[in-house]
Formats: sequence, structure tokens, C-alpha cells
Amino acid sequence: MGSVLMLLQLVLTFFLFWGLVKNGDAGITSSFIRTEWPSVDIPLDNEVFAVPDGHNAPQQVHITQGDYNGEAVIISWVTPDNPGSSKVQYGVSKAKYDFTAEGTVTNYTFYKYKSGYIHHCLLDGLEYDTKYYYKIGDGDSSREFWFQTPPMINPDAAYKFGIIGDLGQTYNSLSTLEHYMQSEAEAVLFVGDLSYADRYKYNDVGVRWDSWARFVERSAAYQPWMWSAGNHEIEYMPYMGEVLPFKSYLHRYPTPHSASKSSSPLWYAIRRASAHIIVLSSYSPFVKYTPQYIWLYNELEKVNREETPWLIVLMHVPIYNSNEAHFKEGESMRSVFEEWFVRYKVDIIFAGHVHAYERSYRISNIHYNVSTGNCYPVADKFAPVYITVGDGGNQEGLAAKFRDPQPDYSAFREASYGHSTLEIKNRTHAFYQWNRNDDGKQVATDAFVLHNQYWANNLRRRKLKKHHLRSVAGWIATQ
Ligand SMILES: [Fe+2]
Repeated sequence: MGSVLMLLQLVLTFFLFWGLVKNGDAGITSSFIRTEWPSVDIPLDNEVFAVPDGHNAPQQVHITQGDYNGEAVIISWVTPDNPGSSKVQYGVSKAKYDFTAEGTVTNYTFYKYKSGYIHHCLLDGLEYDTKYYYKIGDGDSSREFWFQTPPMINPDAAYKFGIIGDLGQTYNSLSTLEHYMQSEAEAVLFVGDLSYADRYKYNDVGVRWDSWARFVERSAAYQPWMWSAGNHEIEYMPYMGEVLPFKSYLHRYPTPHSASKSSSPLWYAIRRASAHIIVLSSYSPFVKYTPQYIWLYNELEKVNREETPWLIVLMHVPIYNSNEAHFKEGESMRSVFEEWFVRYKVDIIFAGHVHAYERSYRISNIHYNVSTGNCYPVADKFAPVYITVGDGGNQEGLAAKFRDPQPDYSAFREASYGHSTLEIKNRTHAFYQWNRNDDGKQVATDAFVLHNQYWANNLRRRKLKKHHLRSVAGWIATQ
């Protein structure tokens, strides 16, 4: 009996020691240096931007979730010459389109650029976990695509998300997109800065929005991309008379914001499989009393971890960043929302903006207030993991200069292009990995098992309770 106790004590000591060593781990700054293609946009006549054959053929096709729970899809596309039809024919068999939905058409001008006819069509009342085929456009110019609906909302529904940010339209962007498409992820969480069209002037801004949408169609027409807005979507360009923020973005990329009672397409929430995803706007008012602030508070209150255990937040500007680029830009949002992220046990927060990859430990800085000290982030098991994936590959290049020394909150950082995936296995576990573009699809550069902040703790607590009861019962039996 005594030796068993000694053995138990030894095991316990080892785990305590290991825990200390592990928590004391210094972060890693990867020394990997990759050769990169020049950060220039792919020329417009390249085949990646090819216009589909046929008069007025639909182009720039992309889809996004169309409701709160994943039973609807918004299909968007552009017809270049005339409005044509906004109708979508769809069904579960390619041979037979049983259903028809009627969409809307809009267009806009940007300086002297006139957009094509932008169509948005909602398909709702879809069956879960079903492959749908859809057809858009008229006559010989019509085009056909497909998508798969997610499983019904269920705490143990397995689902694989991809995460991409700051993509742009360079050869590096193409590499990211091609690597992402090998990942077998089912939907994209896009963390802002889509086309970088605002790097152009005058009519070329609109032209580059068009080319980007043709570029991502290879993925975005077949699986939903969940959009969030970055600074390159703002397009405040008074020198050419364009002062309405987010004009191109809002015309082209609808979101199901009203389904989550949001007053703006720039911030909203969706539920998909076992995840509750909250999208925030770094460039819309978010301080106390603003619509985004009130909306977020209400949305966090609505989250039901018994139905959707995984709470994920997307934003453009990272809250914890240790790169020289955009350092401290997330501080304003941190000071307003961090307390809620900890209180509501957000699992993971994805951001972009910084053109490099970085992952934080679970840390928080919620004890700091202006009138007292405690000004450093500290380990906090209820805090989210913060991940920056602004490494899609746009024409601004990499943010290669990290702050030295690496702050304690930074777990891993590397200035390479790439994308991430989050593979939810069940209510307690998810597998996360970041892939730099140079690696084959089997090589995860940064990977870890994510324990759910709600269920993993609950299960542990229950197990501990059960174990404790068993120990007490055992002790009583020996008396
Ligand atoms: Fe950005």
C-alpha cells in the first residue's frame, strides 16, 4: 500500500514539475527563412483571372452562409454586360433542379468605374448535410456549381474550418489559395483585407475587385467564405471623390447580419455545426453604447455552449501581436472587449492585418486599470488563444520584423505566408494547425490540440468529482 502511495506521489510530482516547466516555456520565434515570390499582383491577363466563356456569363461567383444556423446560403455573382436573370436553380441532383429562388441585382460606381450587375440570391430551407447543385445565368452562358450544407447544430458535430487573412492577388496569394484547397476544410473564416484593390487608383480599384472575385471563385463558389472587413475594405479616397466607407465591399460581399439581429453587415454571428462564430469590425465604432458594443454583449449572452460548444471570434486587428507592424493597434479593442472574451470563455480569436503568423498563450490583461499597476498580461486559463493569420500573401509583402525579445504572451511566430485550419472533432477537442505555403499539405508548421473552454473544464470537473467520490467510498470501505 505504502509503495503504491509513493508511486502516486512520484507521478503527481512529475506532472506538477512538468506543468511548471511547460508554463514557463519561452515562446518560439521560428528561424525558418523562405524564398518568396515577388509581392506583385498577378497581371490581369493571367489565366487565374479568366473571364468565363459566353455572352454575359456569370462571373465572380461566391457563397456565404445565409442565416443563423446553416440552413441557408447566399449566392452572389456578377454579370458584366446586362442585368440578365437573378434566378438560381438548385436541387440535390445535377440532372434535375427542383427548386428556384429569385435574387436581387444592384450596381455602383467608383470614380468613373461602373460595376457589373451584382446579384445576390438567398437559398433557404435547405436540408442539413446535403450536397446541392446550383445553376445561374441564362441559356448557353449559364454555369453550374455545387456546395455542401453543414451538419445540423449539434455539440458533437465534427467540422473543419479554414482560416485565411489578407489574401490579395499575388503569386503568393495563389499559393495560399492552392494550399488551402488541398486542406479539405469545409468553409473559410476570412479575417479581412480581401483584394487590396485600394492599392490602385481611379478606375483600377473596381477592376481589381472584379479580378479578385474571379481569382477566389475556384473555392468561394463551392464553399461558404465567412467575411469580415479589414482596413483595405474602407476605401476612403477623397482625392477621387469616394468617401463612403466600405462601398465596394458592402455591394459585393453580403453577410447574414440581420439573422443575428445586427444592425450592420460589418458585424454579425452565425452558428455552424458545433461552432458559434462572432465576426467583429475593427473599423466600426465599438466603444460603450455603440451598436456594435450592445450587439456583442447580447450575442455573447445568447451563446449556448450546450448546443454550440466552440466559441470563435474573428476580427481584423489582432489584440496580441508582437510584430513591429501594427504593434498596439488592437489595444483599443482589447481595453473594451477583453474582459468579455475571458468572462464568456471564448475558445479562440482569429485576426489578420499583420502579414505574418503568430499564436499566443492563454493570457489576459484584464486586471490592469488606468489608476493602478498590474499592467502586464498574465497566464489566464479562461482566456482565449489569439492567432494572427494575416499571412495570405498580398502585395504589401511580409511583416518580417518581430519585436525583440519575444514577449511572454507570444507562443509561436513566423514571418511566412500560409493558412490555418481548425478541425473540430467533438465537444471537447479540436485540432488546430498552421501551414506555411512551402510545406506539403501533410506538414503542419504549428499545431496543437485545442481543449474546449466550456466542456473540457466541465468534464474535468465532473471526472474529478467522480474520482473524489470513488476515493472517499474506497476510504470508507477500508475503515
Ligand atoms: Fe489590414
